[in-house]
Order: sequence, then C-alpha cells, then structure tokens
Amino acid sequence: MRAVDLIQKKRDGKELSTQEIEWLISNYAKGDVPDYQMSAFAMAVYFKGMSTRETRDLTMSMVATGDQIDLSAISGVKTDKHSTGGVGDKVTLILAPLVASFGVPVAKMSGRGLGHTGGTLDKLESIKGYNINISQEDFIKQVQDIGLSVIGQSDQLVKADKLLYALRDVTATVDIIPLIASSVMSKKIAAGADSILLDVTVGDGAFMKTLEDAEKLSRLMVDLGKEVGRKTIAVITDMSQPVGQAIGNRLEVLEAIQIMQGKGRADVTDFICELGQQMLELAGVSKSLDDIKDHLVSGQALKKFEEMIISQGGDLDDLYRPVNVSHKVEIFAKDSGYVSEIPALEFGLFAMKLGAGRAVKTDPLDYETGIVFDKKVGDKVTSGDRIAVIYSNQELCQNVITEFEKNVKIGVEQIAPKEILEIIY
Ligand code: URA
Repeated sequence: MRAVDLIQKKRDGKELSTQEIEWLISNYAKGDVPDYQMSAFAMAVYFKGMSTRETRDLTMSMVATGDQIDLSAISGVKTDKHSTGGVGDKVTLILAPLVASFGVPVAKMSGRGLGHTGGTLDKLESIKGYNINISQEDFIKQVQDIGLSVIGQSDQLVKADKLLYALRDVTATVDIIPLIASSVMSKKIAAGADSILLDVTVGDGAFMKTLEDAEKLSRLMVDLGKEVGRKTIAVITDMSQPVGQAIGNRLEVLEAIQIMQGKGRADVTDFICELGQQMLELAGVSKSLDDIKDHLVSGQALKKFEEMIISQGGDLDDLYRPVNVSHKVEIFAKDSGYVSEIPALEFGLFAMKLGAGRAVKTDPLDYETGIVFDKKVGDKVTSGDRIAVIYSNQELCQNVITEFEKNVKIGVEQIAPKEILEIIY
C-alpha cells in the first residue's frame, strides 16, 4: 500500500477499507508515513468526511498504537469523563472528587490547555508540588486506596493521537467530527474505565458551534464507546460563555474549592451536581440531586480532593493561598440592565494573553493570572456595579480595558442561560 493512494482515495470522496485505515495509522505511528502526508490526509477527511464505519476503524487503529491500561485490579465500576474543551472549565476538579466521595472509583487522565481553551493538568500543576506524572502502578494503587487520581496522559497511550493532534493543531484540521470522535474515544478506550461521561461543549468557545453538530459528535462517540462495551453517555453543555466565574489556572482551582465549600454560584454548583448524578448513574449508583448537593456542600468532595492533592505530592497550604499578581483591575458596568453576552472565545483569548493559556504548545504559563466575573449572563446589573476583576502581571493599557468592557454585553431583556442542553444516551 502507498499513503499517496489512500490520500487520493479520500480526496476523491471514497470510503477507505478497514485494512487501509489500519495500515495508514500504524505506519504513521511508526514514523513510516511522514507528517506531510498525514496532514494531507487530515485535510482530505476535513472536506470529504468519514463514514461511521471508517471512524470506528480509525478509532480502534489509533487505540492499537499504544498501551491499554488494565484497571481490573480496582474493584467497582471505574468511571472517567472527558470534555471536548472550553473556557473556565474547572468541572473535573469538582466532579471527579464528588463522584469518588460516593465510593465510585475515578481514574482519569487529563490534558493540557491550548489556545483559548484551558486544560485540567495545567490547573492541577498550579498547586505547588502536584505530580501529574506518577507511574501507572502508583496511579492504580492510588485509585485502589483513595478512589481517585488525575494524572497526565501516558506517552505510551494512543501514540497516533499525540502525533496527529499536534499536526491537526497547526494544519486547521481540529474541528472536524470524525477526527475529534476518534481522538477522544481512542484515549478513553485505552484508558480502561468501564463507564465514560462525555461533556460535549457547544457554542462560541467550543469546537462544535451548533447544537446539530454537537448532537452528531455525541451520537458517534456514545456509539463508539458502547460498541466496545463501555457504558457511555454524552452531555451537551453550553460554552457560549465561560463555565462559572473564573478563567485562569489558580483562579479556577480557588473557584473549585469555593464550590466544594458550598460557597460557589448556585448555577455552576447545580450544573456540576447534575453531571455528578449522570456519572453516578452510569456506575449504577442512583442519587437524588438534593442528596448530591448536600454531599457536595458538606465538604465530602473537598475532603476527597485534598486526599488526592496530598497523595500526589501537592502542598495543602499552597492550595488555599490566594493568587499573587502585580495588578488587579476592576471592571465596572457602564449601563444598567441584564448581562446578555460574555463571549467565551473572546475571554479565553484575553486570559491567554495574560499568560493563563498558551498560543503554542511550548509557551510557558503564568498560573496566577486570569479573570473572575462577578456577573454572568442573565444577571441584573446597575451602572457602576463591578462586573469582573482582571488579575495580571503586566500593566494593562486603557485600550485593552475598553475592549474588555465592550465584550461584556448588557441588554434590556433577561436571558435565562441553560448549562445542560441535551443528554445523548
Ligand atoms: N479533545 C481531544 O482530545 N481531541 C480532539 O480532537 C478535540 C478535543
């Protein structure tokens, strides 16, 4: 077989066979198919798509390019979750310990942020000492002992995704359904959990811009998970505005702690409890939302979170330390009415420029910087109310502040935002 023939076949809109896909992916992972041919292939898929059968073959071929983690030594239904990416998305920091605090083991491998989106690993690494690189044996032992571990994805897992994702990132081929589905599901399948909750984000700050596309991606990933015997559901969630109040690594950890202390905003607290209910249900544990919320605000999830931080070398004193920045800029409303828009993409990029995110993979991060919103979409504001605080380690010129103010839109009608738009079973 030759890569050029497979690229041409896809370019001409034809379906590749199982053997052809296996050949292409295994040879790419071995280094025998070069990046320039794989880039051309990704672009051909971008324009011509893939059938469900091709996407399944692509996913399983990718799984075969690395190790598969055996979690069978851990008793109970092992759970995992994955978000397709967003702004201010600190959900894992709360949801994972919440579910684990009900006795359901959570063994999770997370990723880093890129561009306007954040990554759980970066947020955890903003806690002094937290080690995301523990060995597979220690990962399994920790889940056996305390029911929870969040680590970085092992280099030995789904090698093809590591290579292909980096390539897609620089060739404008990330936001295409079959490539996202195979990337996410190959990692989830290889990571070994019995049940998987997929948080499929939709809106301005997400890869999926429309509900219709988010539904298609969800259906595909749920079916892929079920076909290999994993209980899988997708929760389609709104990413038109940031999740919760904070954007920025340490600021998001602090917001997560507040939520686990029962001091978070009601909307984000309720949203995470609803996700918790779904994740517990997948593991065969039925709980009412009231029970889950009582459990969360009584500090059980925080206790589990602290156990994980200690077990992975993190410093508990540092965990509770406020952020340390040279400049805090308060932003005040110029009009009265209701907040109608806080575009996730704009503010994700704004936080990235403060140093909270990376424009390219090699960029260093400033864990301390970011934004905390006092007001969110649907909130009433009166001219002069504080709507946000910017945490920066550089002086911000007036233009930047004016741009920030303009991006928080205030209207006359009250919008009632919904965090969960749909659940695909
Ligand atoms: N998250 C992933 O892991 N892969 C994608 O392709 C997009 C989001």
